[in-house]
Amino acid sequence: MKVALIGTGNMGSGLAKQIVKAGHTLAVAGRNPAKAQELARSVGASFKSSNAADGAEVVILATAYADAVTALRAAGDLSGKVVVDISNPLTADYMGLTIGHGTSAAEEIQKAFPKARVVKAFNTVFAQVLAAGPSLGGEVVPVYFAGDDAQAKETVRALIASMGFAAVDAGGLKNARYLEPLAGLNVYFGYGAGRGTSIAPKWIGIE
Ligand SMILES: NC(=O)c1ccc[n+]([C@@H]2O[C@H](COP(=O)([O-])OP(=O)(O)OC[C@H]3O[C@@H](n4cnc5c(N)ncnc54)[C@H](OP(=O)(O)O)[C@@H]3O)[C@@H](O)[C@H]2O)c1
Repeated sequence: MKVALIGTGNMGSGLAKQIVKAGHTLAVAGRNPAKAQELARSVGASFKSSNAADGAEVVILATAYADAVTALRAAGDLSGKVVVDISNPLTADYMGLTIGHGTSAAEEIQKAFPKARVVKAFNTVFAQVLAAGPSLGGEVVPVYFAGDDAQAKETVRALIASMGFAAVDAGGLKNARYLEPLAGLNVYFGYGAGRGTSIAPKWIGIE
C-alpha cells in the first residue's frame, strides 16, 4: 500500500515505524521539513516536501485537530483519497473535548474535504502503545475504525491488520462521535487518573 503520513510528532513517529515494518511504501511530510526528513530516514521511508497526497492511496493525518484543515490543504488533491483521521479534539488541559455530541472531528474534516473518503482510526491508541505495538499485556491492541465508504474502510482495516493490531469495525463516520469521547476517557485514565500510557480500551466479547 502507498501511504502518505502528515505529521512527525508522537503519533506520526509510531505510525511511521509500524507502517514501514508492515511492508508498506511510506512518504513522510510535515510542516518542518528537517523533522520529516529525519523521521523518514530513521524508519526507511521517503520524504515529501509538498503535495503529500500525490501518488498515495492512503493519507494519514497525524496533526492536532486544530491543524487538520491547514495540513490537509497543503497535501494536494484529496479527491478519492482515503484520509485517516486519528485526531482527538481535546481541550488545552486534555480533560475535555472541544466538539462532540452533534458532530465529531472526523465529520468536520469530511465536511471540509468532501471529495476525500475519511476514515476515523487509531484515536483510542496512545502513541506509546502504537510505537510498542501491536500487543500490550499479552493482548492484541484493538484499533477501532469508522467511516462511510466501504472500500475506504476495507483499505484501512487491511492497513491496521497488516500492522498486527486487531481492526474493529465501529460503523459509520458518525460513530466518531463515540470514538473521540472514548479516547477522552482513555486520556483521563492515562493522565488524569495517573494510570500511565500502557493502557488501551478493549471491548470484552469483540476480538
Ligand atoms: N499522543 C497520543 O497518545 C495520541 C493518541 C491518539 C490520538 N492522538 C491524536 O493524534 C494527533 C497527533 O498527536 P501527537 O501526540 O502526535 O501530537 P504532536 O506530537 O504534537 O505532533 C503533531 C504534529 O503535527 C505537525 N503539524 C502541525 N501543524 C501542521 C501542518 N500544518 N502541516 C503539517 N504538520 C503539522 C507538528 O509539526 P511540528 O513538529 O512542526 O510541530 C507535529 O509533527 C492529535 O490529533 C491527537 O489528538 C494522539
